[in-house]
Amino acid sequence: MITFANGHTLGYDDVGSGIPVLLLHGFPHNRSLWSPQLGALAAAARTICMDLRGFGDSTPGAARSMDDYADDAAALLDTLGIDRAVITGLSMGGYATLAFWRRHPARVRALVLCDTRAGADSEASRASRRDMQVMAQRQGSAAIANQLINGMVGPTTRLKNPELVDELHRMMSLAPEDGVVGALGAMMTRPDSTPTLATIDVPTLIIVGEEDALAPVTEARTMYLAIGGSRLEIIAGAGHVSNAERPATFNHLLSEFLISLTAQ
Ligand code: MLT
Repeated sequence: MITFANGHTLGYDDVGSGIPVLLLHGFPHNRSLWSPQLGALAAAARTICMDLRGFGDSTPGAARSMDDYADDAAALLDTLGIDRAVITGLSMGGYATLAFWRRHPARVRALVLCDTRAGADSEASRASRRDMQVMAQRQGSAAIANQLINGMVGPTTRLKNPELVDELHRMMSLAPEDGVVGALGAMMTRPDSTPTLATIDVPTLIIVGEEDALAPVTEARTMYLAIGGSRLEIIAGAGHVSNAERPATFNHLLSEFLISLTAQ
């Protein structure tokens, strides 16, 4: 855990050695989302996962924009003495990853975009985020978890791995309300990153669960077609949190990608 001069505390784990990989979680998760990756990648990489502002141990405070998350990530790299890292984000973490690319391109060795999209929110999504902010303030994060849990995983996981569903529900229920409200605001005001895609000139891996209903394969394919030289991997039997639903496949794809970077 580190505390910045502004009094904000940032929770993180830093495991293994090798090429640095920074993992950014989705909404309304915390860094424990990446537990299946932490030990598994340790042989190939220095794996760092952080709690985004307002989640897990990164409190108090809430983000006002994706740029806040991106700048916190850059500050963590500074603190750890890391010049460049493979920035990896899932869903909301992917939005923050694209903001990181815009703001700190020199710090990016490569990108991994998981179960995410480039586009901004539609008007309907913004309205639903505003409703969710009110729900979080009035009923707490457990109500948000109840609303989101079904879309969080695919039908295969719902059927075969109810323990994971319970674990995710618990994680989301524990999210601090101000972090949730801040993240919803940051997501609804995030810019359209579609024009950013053409500027990406580092190796990029795009991963998506075949059963992802929140950031479906079509979104991943759009990013793949717009990012020159990128690679698209679709994980069968996984939904929105593909890293947790099919960890062995996810870790294999990520490890292979990291090895290809070190071989270059
Ligand atoms: C997430 O998992 O981070 C969310 O699905 C992102 C979003 O609500 O747009």
